[in-house]
Amino acid sequence: MASVTLENVKKVYPGGVEAVKGITLAIPDGSFTVLLGPSGCGKSTLLRMIAGLETVTDGVIRIGSRVVNNIEPSERDIAMVFQNYALYPHMTVWDNMAYGLKNRGTPKDEIVRRVTEAARLLELEPLLKRRPRELSGGQRQRVAMGRAIVREPQVFLFDEPLSNLDAKLRVQTRIEIRRLHNRLKATSIFVTHDQVEAMTLADLVVVMNQGRIEQVGAPLDVYRRPASRFVATFIGSPAMNMLRGRVVEPGRVELEGGSLAFDPAEFVIPSGSEVDVGVRPEDLVIASSDEAAGLSFTREFIEELGATRVVHGSSGSELLSFILASSAPLPSETTLRLTAPSSVVHLFDRSTGASLRRDGAGSA
Ligand SMILES: Nc1ncnc2c1ncn2[C@@H]1O[C@H](COP(=O)(O)OP(=O)(O)OP(=O)(O)O)[C@@H](O)[C@H]1O
Ligand SMILES: [Mg+2]
Repeated sequence: MASVTLENVKKVYPGGVEAVKGITLAIPDGSFTVLLGPSGCGKSTLLRMIAGLETVTDGVIRIGSRVVNNIEPSERDIAMVFQNYALYPHMTVWDNMAYGLKNRGTPKDEIVRRVTEAARLLELEPLLKRRPRELSGGQRQRVAMGRAIVREPQVFLFDEPLSNLDAKLRVQTRIEIRRLHNRLKATSIFVTHDQVEAMTLADLVVVMNQGRIEQVGAPLDVYRRPASRFVATFIGSPAMNMLRGRVVEPGRVELEGGSLAFDPAEFVIPSGSEVDVGVRPEDLVIASSDEAAGLSFTREFIEELGATRVVHGSSGSELLSFILASSAPLPSETTLRLTAPSSVVHLFDRSTGASLRRDGAGSA
């Protein structure tokens, strides 16, 4: 296994598109690291540079201690799994998995050992004689994973390998990938724009935006202490509410629909500052009737999710939503007061979007 380190890595495509704008990142040996960000933010470009499928415009990429900038993909000791798994249609599952090893002149008994082991891990044993067209999408994806596993690489690279699968299979395969990682412990870098996938799979989440890193951290870290408004609203579903506010005194911010307390030890902000106030829908609670604090809320509609319901509405002229357990009684009034514990109120610089947390919230 090996770590992967990136030092000020840049990519400018011919034609001038700056896809990756100087990324510095240490991916620990044996970790499952997810590159997460919206379409076009440079995730695939970064992964393809690590794989050697794109040239590096500037900066240094290391796999282990070796600089790989000018090393051929086949010499980098990596294996890549793509969204489009591109199996050889005329070959059986066994041959699809064995093909790369045969090509490299791996001894026959070693090929048998590795393919048998991969087939066992991926539960492909009953399918070894079939051809790709005789498999479901999920099974094909497992064969593509098998083809990567038999290489026994230092690093696995995944580019949205689940996005061709239906919703249920995505969840199943996601769990299988994580289970496999727990067994193989190989350094894995996984690209997705799906924040749920990132949260559930990763040891380390790297949130990217427009060719840059917004934040690096453990999933719950990034969720609880977002370094920017971008991260705050990108991670979490339904998205974090974002409201305009003004700090009126240490520990209190005034909003259109009322006011909220925040932790004055976490956020040191001069009174009078205009800020953006973030509160997750699951952190808002209905205030008791004798409570003066909190925000006014006018209910508009309800989304039933089964275990929970999302109540959508507004506070003044701004949209606001909160989550209730389905088992909790739904108040009959259409206007309510909502409040949130000070520990879950996030504040962001109105103009830059950076978190105003005293310690910078682990920003990159
Ligand atoms: N071969 C290319 N030539 C020129 N520009 C490119 C090329 N490939 C990608 N780009 C541009 O580089 C930027 C980053 O693309 P990239 O494919 O890395 O994004 P991504 O984060 O993987 O997006 P997605 O989630 O849609 O796959 C985009 O603006 C894209 O249009
Ligand atoms: Mg991509």
